[in-house]
Amino acid sequence: MRHEYKGRFITFEGGEGSGKSTQVALLTDYLNKRGIQAIKTREPGGSSGAEDIRALLLKGGSDRWDGMTEVLLHSAARRDHLVKTVWPSLEQGMWVVCDRFFDSTLAYQGWGHGIDLHSIAVAIGLSAGTFKPDLTLILDMDVTQGLERAKGRGQGQDRYESMDVSFHERLRQGFVDIARAEPERCALIDAGQTPDQVHQAVVERVEAQWLRN
Ligand SMILES: Nc1ncnc2c1ncn2[C@@H]1O[C@H](COP(=O)(O)OP(=O)(O)OP(=O)(O)O)[C@@H](O)[C@H]1O
Ligand SMILES: [Mg+2]
Repeated sequence: MRHEYKGRFITFEGGEGSGKSTQVALLTDYLNKRGIQAIKTREPGGSSGAEDIRALLLKGGSDRWDGMTEVLLHSAARRDHLVKTVWPSLEQGMWVVCDRFFDSTLAYQGWGHGIDLHSIAVAIGLSAGTFKPDLTLILDMDVTQGLERAKGRGQGQDRYESMDVSFHERLRQGFVDIARAEPERCALIDAGQTPDQVHQAVVERVEAQWLRN
């Protein structure tokens, strides 16, 4: 069921280096040019408290936190982000474009770390209630190529990037399974194309969903 806010909530998901941040920026610009007030934000983060929690999650060795602790930290960050940033913006009628959301918690901690999906769903329910995205664009591509792209950005590896390739293969499968289970909300996009081609595929899906009528 759709949330009661005036604005729309669009999320981007996908593995490391799949082009989420690039596409979030392109779609936000596109919407603003179309006369739709849109802001971009990210998870973990997107509010002052959640950015503090982000630093805890992304710095340090790959075994700094166990999977369940990650679920709880992501959920705490999500709650703060929703309360301080996302919900107030949607209430004002703005569209919010978000770089990762709860599907990343399901894919990374569930498919990636093997935490049972029911426990993750409970944590998502505690942080977000029944709120969910109006549209989720899942950027799908070869895991090794994505990791290479992320490395090419030259910011050094974060905790998740430093996990082994099989972890990244599992979470890619997780995103595919999520897209199959919820085709109304989720679109799987081939992210192995040029940024502009990916953007065109994104715009097509957004237009198809809302802007034509
Ligand atoms: N379609 C594309 N083709 C080639 N390179 C791309 C493409 N999209 C983005 N890139 C480049 O690949 C790198 C990773 O892209 P980006 O930061 O958008 O990915 P991301 O999914 O946000 O990564 P992360 O999961 O690490 O946040 C950047 O240097 C970006 O410029
Ligand atoms: Mg990014």
